[in-house]
Amino acid sequence: MRFVLPKGRLLSGSLEILKKAGIRLETPKNRELIVKNGGYELLLARSFDVPVYVEHGIDVGIAGSDVVEERGSDVLVPLELPFGKCRLSLAMPKDNVVDVEEMDGFRIATKYPNLTKRFFEKKGIEVEVIKLHGSIELAPRIGIADAIVDIVETGNTLKANNLIEIEKIMDVSALLLVNRISQKTKFEEVNKLVLKIKEVIKNGS
Ligand code: PRP
Repeated sequence: MRFVLPKGRLLSGSLEILKKAGIRLETPKNRELIVKNGGYELLLARSFDVPVYVEHGIDVGIAGSDVVEERGSDVLVPLELPFGKCRLSLAMPKDNVVDVEEMDGFRIATKYPNLTKRFFEKKGIEVEVIKLHGSIELAPRIGIADAIVDIVETGNTLKANNLIEIEKIMDVSALLLVNRISQKTKFEEVNKLVLKIKEVIKNGS
């Protein structure tokens, strides 16, 4: 079986839950991005790319629900995992807060253009979305955006950048992803893994 895990904040939780489910994966050394682990192969990818790899043939992956929703990924999601809990929220500079209903024409910086557009469309508000790849909080600080849509976990990053959370757009959690074909061709193996992880979650260990 081939696994793809995200580099970054979900990696340690992902390795841990797999280990508890009996799959011990060594992370690649140096700058290698792929490593063989006994009968398994582990790929490390950017978080936004994980569902893409699973869509295109890697058997199993772990990614945040934010990324899966944003990409509209065609993957199976057999389980929500008990880590990577955070939220996707709209935030604004503390000294320049307006009601969401008054945001017509606002420029919104985000890594999540699709979820952002959907959120404002539902409210009938037209905004300009500025797609960035990271450090989103910089954009309002230097005046290229009026607000941001980004992940909030502890809220420390918002605070440090004089931003205030206005509205939660969605709750986020890590998800187990399975390739549609693998679910059929490797049914036994995939099913065993899902059941084991379920058990780990149930036992809270
Ligand atoms: C995420 C997110 C915020 C921060 C929120 O960024 O985009 O910047 O974490 O966490 P907090 O509420 O606990 O402060 P990440 O560190 O993943 O990197 P990025 O800024 O490059 O996207």
